Amino acid sequence: MPRPREVLPGPVWPTRPGPNVAVGDGSGRLTAALARLPPRGLAVRFDIRQPPKPVPALADDYSYILRLGEQILVQAETEWGGLAALATLAQLVAAEPAPVAEVRDAPRFAWRGLMVDPARHFLSIATLRRTLDAMWFYKLNVLHLHLTDDQGFRFRSRIYPELASAQAYSLEELGELVAYAADRGVRVVPELDMPGHTTSWLAAHPEWGGGGEKPEVSRRFGLHRASLDLDNAGLLAAVDALLGELADTFPDEYLHFGGDEAVGVSADRQARFTRRVVERIGRLGRRPMGWDECLHPDLPTRTVVQAWRGMAARDVAVRGGYDCVVSAPYYLDLFYPAEVHYAFDPVDDSHAAAAMRENPRLAHVREGIDWLADATTLPQTPERAPGAVLGGEACMWGELVTDELLATRVWSRMPAIAERLWGTATPGDPLPRLMASRRVLASLGILPEDGAALEAFADLAPLIEMLEPVKWYRRLLGDANFTRRVNGLGGDAEARPYDATTPLDRPVDRIAPESWASRRAEADLAAGRSMRQWIAGWRAQRDALDQHPALRAELAAASDALAAIADIVAGESNADPLPLAGPFGEYLLPIAYAVRARR
Ligand code: ACM
Repeated sequence: MPRPREVLPGPVWPTRPGPNVAVGDGSGRLTAALARLPPRGLAVRFDIRQPPKPVPALADDYSYILRLGEQILVQAETEWGGLAALATLAQLVAAEPAPVAEVRDAPRFAWRGLMVDPARHFLSIATLRRTLDAMWFYKLNVLHLHLTDDQGFRFRSRIYPELASAQAYSLEELGELVAYAADRGVRVVPELDMPGHTTSWLAAHPEWGGGGEKPEVSRRFGLHRASLDLDNAGLLAAVDALLGELADTFPDEYLHFGGDEAVGVSADRQARFTRRVVERIGRLGRRPMGWDECLHPDLPTRTVVQAWRGMAARDVAVRGGYDCVVSAPYYLDLFYPAEVHYAFDPVDDSHAAAAMRENPRLAHVREGIDWLADATTLPQTPERAPGAVLGGEACMWGELVTDELLATRVWSRMPAIAERLWGTATPGDPLPRLMASRRVLASLGILPEDGAALEAFADLAPLIEMLEPVKWYRRLLGDANFTRRVNGLGGDAEARPYDATTPLDRPVDRIAPESWASRRAEADLAAGRSMRQWIAGWRAQRDALDQHPALRAELAAASDALAAIADIVAGESNADPLPLAGPFGEYLLPIAYAVRARR
């Protein structure tokens, strides 16, 4: 995964334990990458046409040919193609040797991105490195770092060191991360989000804001009205300096200036500021990139627009002549199952929205999804020669993510998005291949084993493994605010259940957004296989919960519901399964949808 473009079958070729060696001239980068594969005595000859480059660029060629046998041949235009070939090889040698003679492969989209958000919860450099290891494995090639937000400013400027949060990256650490990423074929794009999402800046420099009292770095999530005073000379000098420091640290051609949700600034004022920032980024020799709120008749067309507020934003951008990166259907913070993301093609989403509306797992938030779509008003742009869709980028916003939780949250669904961006979706369920590829990553030590995060609850596994977190923004908003919103009563009336200091150590934090056990039970049910073992576990978990008094209040309703589902599946009850899906607080019991569908 992602499935290659062309696989020619052949005889099974033998591997044996032992070091892998590059035959002839391998570059240092490719030889090192080969050494990270499982030791299977692989002898690999590299035939790479172009000389090595320090970092990848958007236009670079990632295609490759991989010829298997006693000696393995990797042919590619660039080292990046060579690295992609090794990712395929890692998957082919992980389990049984595959009966494959040759793989011919090339990506469909040039921009195959993942955005992470160390601003809301800091992510260590070690976590970012493991993320890059997994990105290589799935042939993703852009890591977008959302470095600043209301809750944190995560790089230590040399010129304005007072802006940095206590937990922040030094520019040296970020420079080393860029090199680490390049060794995995990945570009790193930094984002300095402005003029909204800047409460953390104003805590250090209140004079850069609209006046009033000194704001604190925010712990709260959601929209913030604090905004920069866009006419302040000191602020404008700082913006220029910070962009310069980022350009010095990140060699990538693109520099992201944010621009989203600047609720404290009028659209025209923001557009004037954006123009100034875009010109500064141009003078730094870079191409500017912004979230889709930056669309405006005055926005220079060399700006790349990141469409996050629906596919309509993509269409407005492309019609206005802007190149576009599609993110709207790839928001990993919404706890959607892989199939929802997988259904959305960056350029052809004609059936995906309907499939999403019909997905039973999203029924409990459907009104929220519709409400958000209705609330979005897109700026208009003049008609010009259309821009291009460069690809897509998944977004892992960090409100409910920590170092410990990132891998489960991202890699539970991201491989399906990677397949979308590298190739094209293949018919059928991507989940079995997704899970098989994750096991390979675990064997390489890049990901934790499945379920490792749940070890503390081992005897409750029959319950916990069946649960999913509620979807969309329902966890972040809380039930009361969710209900207000979908009933047209406006924003939050109650405090949200989470802020940046809330511990994220409950089962709902640790379980995967999509329950693999539930999918297996669904498959057994659909195939008419015996449900005896499932039923036994679903009944036994009720007594096991008594041994966990701290979890009783949180899980009792879901536990009772699962026991009731066991009775229905055993043929001992005629109850309606649908109410047994929940939500029960922040938990969903999706097996109920499959039981209902079987009746
Ligand atoms: C965003 O999700 N505010 C870009």
